[in-house]
Amino acid sequence: MNRVYIKTYGCQMNERDSEAVAAMLRARGYRIVSDERESDIVLLNTCSVRDLAEQKAIGKAGHIAARKKENPRLVIGILGCMAQNRGASILDQLPDVDLVIGTQKIHRVPGYLDLLRSLRESGMPVGSTIVDTAEEEGSQDAIRDHLLAERQVSAFVSIQQGCDMDCSFCIVPKTRGDERSRPMDAIVEECRALVDKGVREITLLGQIVTSYGRRDYAHTGGITPFVQLLERLHGIDGLSRIRFTSPHPQGFKPDLVAAFGRLPKLGEYVHLPLQSGSNRLLRAMRRPYTRERYLELVAALRAVQPRMNLSTDIIVGFPGETEEDFEQTREVFSAADYDMAYVFKYSRRSGTPAESLAGQVPEEVKEQRNQVLLGMLEQNSLRRNQSLVGTRQEVLVEGPDKKGLRYSGRTRGNRTVHFPAGPEWIGRLVPVAVKRASTSVLYGEMEPLAGA
Ligand code: 5AD
Repeated sequence: MNRVYIKTYGCQMNERDSEAVAAMLRARGYRIVSDERESDIVLLNTCSVRDLAEQKAIGKAGHIAARKKENPRLVIGILGCMAQNRGASILDQLPDVDLVIGTQKIHRVPGYLDLLRSLRESGMPVGSTIVDTAEEEGSQDAIRDHLLAERQVSAFVSIQQGCDMDCSFCIVPKTRGDERSRPMDAIVEECRALVDKGVREITLLGQIVTSYGRRDYAHTGGITPFVQLLERLHGIDGLSRIRFTSPHPQGFKPDLVAAFGRLPKLGEYVHLPLQSGSNRLLRAMRRPYTRERYLELVAALRAVQPRMNLSTDIIVGFPGETEEDFEQTREVFSAADYDMAYVFKYSRRSGTPAESLAGQVPEEVKEQRNQVLLGMLEQNSLRRNQSLVGTRQEVLVEGPDKKGLRYSGRTRGNRTVHFPAGPEWIGRLVPVAVKRASTSVLYGEMEPLAGA
């Protein structure tokens, strides 16, 4: 009775938390299964960033709870952001849930499952729920364990939890708590161990990675702790690429911009959340930059790396967004020349500063603005991908593509490329001549290695 099925909603931090929980469970003798119907324990690691994400998880949990009629011993756990956001009130809607575990307690899930089992064995009535959404000092350092697949090339490493920014739309400070960074030595050690196991690309994760360590480490010679961390990781032999998400535009000080010129493992890709191109809305969103400053940053990054690929996050339909504001967003969106963008329709979140703002935008208007930006993005991605046809790109080979016809990997600019290869190339950096491009992927052929 120890088969665990884990379903994850939301961001890469959540994916990473789930992976760490799965690794801890496996070490304790639980089995992680991929078929929900074959499980004794179902864990939903949830997201609260938009209402839709919460509704999906609630719907799913309700559905699973129906299985308890046949199998009263089935264990259901709600973990992560929605557990943190709603706490025990989740039980009003979902009385059959056994565990409600917040974001700072997620590493305690294995212990709680053991506890639940022993309580039940000792006769505790099935139906009592364990709720733990307390803060825990040091919890940011508990997400360390990995479940690496055979020949896994790319891995995520959590470097920080929480966020001290005050973006008026965002629920993250409420669900993830104050900003807390892991010790630099622990991160470097974890990355080194991953590289020893064959990992070649590491993506550093945090809600605001650019603020990493700002209270724990001194700036030395104008170098922020985050860039100090990048420098140390850059020194790990065998590690080919370092990426990170999510940064804040404000965190791109000159040292980080310059790092893209002197630390080649960073590649040529940055995620730079814009949210809005209207200064009036940026102020209302409490984003401490202007459209002009943002575009200066884009120019500075492309001065260091002319081919720099950029992705972004945009919110359409923030309260009070007029046609004029949206026009401003379109302008910046076009000027920044993105390869990729995530466009979100504003979702009102309880407990956020924007919750009570007047001027809610009708759903149809949000949808229409969403479509406008997606249309622009599609054209832009295609144009930028097509401009790579005829060039040679350095690709980190990840493995067979989904259809199993070719191999796939990513360029320094984080674009996916498909090309014929074999298993001996997994984890290696190879030159690929780009022959064809679509909006989302490139197709090419490997070229002989220099000196080979
Ligand atoms: N509504 C819509 N999108 C949101 N995001 C954050 N909060 C909200 C909200 N209330 C988006 C932002 C953020 C991304 C992860 O989710 O664009 O960068």
